[in-house]
Amino acid sequence: MRRSDLPHGFVIGAATASYQIEGATREDGRGDSIWDTFARVPGAIADGSTGDVADDHYHRAAEDVALMADLGFDAYRFSIAWPRIQADGTGAPNLDGIDFYRRLAESLLERGITPWATLYHWDLPQALEDRGGWLERDTALRFADYAARVSDRLGDLVTDWITLNEPWCSSFLGYASGHHAPGRTLGSRSSHAAHHLLLGHGLALEALRSGMPEARVGTTLNLYSVRPASDSDADRDAARRIDGLSNRLFLDPVLRGSYPADVLDDLGETSWFAEHATEEDLRLISAPIDFLGINYYSRHTVAAGDDSGATPSAYPGSEQVQFVTTGAPVTQMGWEIHPDGLTDVLRMANELAPELPLYITENGAAYEDHVDLNGEIVDTERVDYLRLHFEAAREAIRLGLPLQGYFLWTLMDNFEWAWGYSRRFGIVYVDYETQQRIPKQSARWISEFLGTDADALQAQGLA
Ligand code: FCB
Repeated sequence: MRRSDLPHGFVIGAATASYQIEGATREDGRGDSIWDTFARVPGAIADGSTGDVADDHYHRAAEDVALMADLGFDAYRFSIAWPRIQADGTGAPNLDGIDFYRRLAESLLERGITPWATLYHWDLPQALEDRGGWLERDTALRFADYAARVSDRLGDLVTDWITLNEPWCSSFLGYASGHHAPGRTLGSRSSHAAHHLLLGHGLALEALRSGMPEARVGTTLNLYSVRPASDSDADRDAARRIDGLSNRLFLDPVLRGSYPADVLDDLGETSWFAEHATEEDLRLISAPIDFLGINYYSRHTVAAGDDSGATPSAYPGSEQVQFVTTGAPVTQMGWEIHPDGLTDVLRMANELAPELPLYITENGAAYEDHVDLNGEIVDTERVDYLRLHFEAAREAIRLGLPLQGYFLWTLMDNFEWAWGYSRRFGIVYVDYETQQRIPKQSARWISEFLGTDADALQAQGLA
């Protein structure tokens, strides 16, 4: 497959997130985020690490941008650390924090790379969590205020904006299973966080639009292809539940302006939503977006279980559902490799919003990478994973789905949340002792892939 097999103008970028790469957590007025606190809880992070240094990107941003330019990326999706802008989540913006992202955006633009900014990739200011975090409606209002202040100061440099990254993870890993910050285990009450995150999206969308009429604003959901292990009614009901919690609970309010009644019922939260998720909230949440970002990694095969499901679970009210391993190849995360699922998730969104442009805002794989005796990282499995998903993207476009771009996860190895540094998703290897970046075989593969297009366009006199 060559890049020219994808439509002209199809965006290919790399994605990262602030807490995973920046380090410098105590510099230039940055406040604590929930991840700074959570990472210090004994046992919370597999290797006992924190994001204090991570990839030291805060001090090496220029070098990292140069690397991306050398690899040939069109775009870079990064996230803004809210506590760098508002240390305690409120009030006037911290200009040092703003400056960091201004310099980043400027250096991207100088290199011909389009900046895509995500406002919330999970680093909530700890001070807001101390006041209840996403369980509180007020956090949504604070988020809109932060969005307005960021757009004020960055709107001249950044056109493409993503409000939230994966509200499913923030709600259910953060407040139900407790695997992610803030590490709370509140069962179905975690769904209140989902509503407040979505309300935050709606309010931020309004704030961004009023400050930047030219901006393109979307949000990013992690969607899964979900199928029942068998045709039995019980397994099909299990699939309905997991599709409901993972996909429909977020897609429906954003794209059709209502919550799925069956999912609220599974959660036992019908009356809370009836009272708190007002018509006005849903109007804000479902206001038109310019694109939907979808993070796609894997599929779930599920079966009905007995009633003894383990708690705390990331699927409150559906703890009994079993996630079945199918014997299909998996990555180091244990996530099944299923490129066709990419089409499934694009179709899910497309059925609800036929005209809406779609972007894959994350896709990638963790493998146990080693530097070999020649100093190289031969990550053939990652190359295969990426190639298969690029082919799936081409197929989705051939089927008529409005897929307009793809961001791979991720530029360089980094702090993989509860896994710490024990999982590497980068196409560039990071030696954490020296902070040396070493492009893996997959980076060379991508670079050649991107280069083919440059050559082809040049040949056609288009570049
Ligand atoms: C996604 C996250 C991203 C990264 C990948 C592997 O859920 O958005 O930060 O951790 O998974």
